[in-house]
Amino acid sequence: MSLEAHNLSKEYATRSGPLSVLRAVNLTLNRGDALAVMGPSGSGKSTLLHILGTLDHPTGGTVTLEGTNPFTLAEADLAAFRNRRIGFVFQDHHLLPQCSVLENVLIPTLVNTSTKPAETEAYARQLLDRVGLGNRLDHRPAELSGGERQRVAVARALVLKPVLLLADEPTGNLDRKNAQSVGALLLDLHRQENTILVVVTHSAELGRLLPRRMEMNDGMLVPIA
Ligand SMILES: Nc1ncnc2c1ncn2[C@@H]1O[C@H](COP(=O)(O)OP(=O)(O)OP(=O)(O)O)[C@@H](O)[C@H]1O
Ligand SMILES: [Mg+2]
Repeated sequence: MSLEAHNLSKEYATRSGPLSVLRAVNLTLNRGDALAVMGPSGSGKSTLLHILGTLDHPTGGTVTLEGTNPFTLAEADLAAFRNRRIGFVFQDHHLLPQCSVLENVLIPTLVNTSTKPAETEAYARQLLDRVGLGNRLDHRPAELSGGERQRVAVARALVLKPVLLLADEPTGNLDRKNAQSVGALLLDLHRQENTILVVVTHSAELGRLLPRRMEMNDGMLVPIA
């Protein structure tokens, strides 16, 4: 039960020629592990997270999640794999404004035909309880604070019980107090659900909450001294 990245590379074709962003990223994380990925702006953190999340293809190297290399799957199978196995939290909550809190959390389940609606809805309600929004199920995102919206995004990321939970600057738009509580919540839920968690962050405070920290340096992922 693990996530493995072997010799990952990523080059973008740009107008001024190829831009090498990842050169040789190697990483092994087991179920229950949590990693903070740090490093300067433009060093390739989001690029790496997108590849680990199968939202983008690497130029070279392999990713294996629970024994499957997702990049060998056909497009429809890859989409199903991503939906089922991977949860995402981004800097912006990406909630749908016209949907209620509960409906937003249920969105990933709409395309998943293997889950039973009654069970997933019960689980979504339970998750919203656990993130402290059990009494806000019918509210629209505009009626919530920034921290509360991000809590909904965390519940949505977990609704299909993913193996891998990926977060890119999940507290980047929050003030310090909300950042602390959303960071702690992410860690708590990761522990309770025994996911593999990878968090990209500029925040030393959030980084310190995670048991392991690495940084992008010259296209490689290196332990922080
Ligand atoms: N689609 C793209 N085409 C060309 N270049 C890209 C593309 N996406 C990212 N880049 C470049 O790749 C490099 C790494 O970008 P990335 O977004 O991974 O950095 P980051 O470490 O997440 O930065 P930040 O901390 O600012 O979010 C940057 O130089 C960026 O300009
Ligand atoms: Mg980024």
